[in-house]
Amino acid sequence: MQFEIQPSGGMVDAEARSASLAAPGFGRVFTDHMVSVRWTEGDGWHDARLEPYAPLVLDPASAVLHYSQSVFEGLKAYRQPDGGVALFRPERNAQRLADSCRRLALPEFPAEAFVEACELLVRTDAAWVPDGAGASLYLRPLILADEIGLMVRPSASVRFLLIASPAGSYFSGPLRPISLWLTDEFVRAVPGGTGAAKCGGNYAASLVAQREAMDHGCDQVVFVDGVEHRWVDELAGSNIFFVLDDGTLVTPELSGAILPGVTRDSVLTMARDSGRKVEERLIGIDEWRDGAATGRIAEVFACGTAAVVTPIGTLKWRGGEVTAGDGTPGPVTTAVRNALIDLQYGRAEDPYGWRRSVS
Ligand code: COI
Repeated sequence: MQFEIQPSGGMVDAEARSASLAAPGFGRVFTDHMVSVRWTEGDGWHDARLEPYAPLVLDPASAVLHYSQSVFEGLKAYRQPDGGVALFRPERNAQRLADSCRRLALPEFPAEAFVEACELLVRTDAAWVPDGAGASLYLRPLILADEIGLMVRPSASVRFLLIASPAGSYFSGPLRPISLWLTDEFVRAVPGGTGAAKCGGNYAASLVAQREAMDHGCDQVVFVDGVEHRWVDELAGSNIFFVLDDGTLVTPELSGAILPGVTRDSVLTMARDSGRKVEERLIGIDEWRDGAATGRIAEVFACGTAAVVTPIGTLKWRGGEVTAGDGTPGPVTTAVRNALIDLQYGRAEDPYGWRRSVS
């Protein structure tokens, strides 16, 4: 795809940028540029450009504002030991974006153009890639339906956008086990629904339960399946793993209602290759409650692009709670996290070809 380059005239000055990079938080500040590509039924993808980061002009009758026809992705670029920058598995995000597009009746964005757009933005805004421990440049590609009109039908006009944001840890403060609230009222997804697609509607549907979690003093909500209400699905924004007392990793199988996380796949692949036993299967909420109480479940962790690998301590529900481990990050969680981030930050060999050097 040929991108027209329109450099930003009003770039953030170096001092303000350094201040942002020193304590980036998550998703609060954005880089100088963005990528935008248009699609129409007649012309396909066209008008690709790298342009100054700026608010959008959207007609209030745009389809996305009413019927939420949109999908997004999340991936990161990491500062490498030689000062260069590498993306992590962008092809995998390109593939998942295409899968999400098919589910939301959006046109698929070509995988090569996706990777090209990510490389272009990271290269242009490379000065925004932080180099602090645990920091990275978070890329947020999205596709939205901008046809004007209130008919409920697939949009004949669509935009691809790509923005970038320097990011630290998703959960504030030093790495610590987070607490989860088990919602017994709300579900995130059901088979045949959009649970396996990365669409904003899934996250919107999680918010009332997330508020419930916060009201109960928990960091995050965890959902069970929408049919039997007993199988662990995932958190609002990440997948989940259990570590058994013999070191086995267990994660819910991809049921069609769970997001196929890139970090989930990376953890599974690396663990298998290191000789660890892994199981993708149904895991019941009772197995969690009982296992954490008896010690059969030694550790629990969340994983995702934003969450990386984050230890989970306490699970609370209406009428009870149980804690896996001793309230500190467990040894297996720590080993899994370190192996992953060492690969992402270029401190370890990359036998998979997952790092893609950009500059
Ligand atoms: C990601 O991990 O990239 C996500 O999209 C999750 C979101 C809650 C930040």
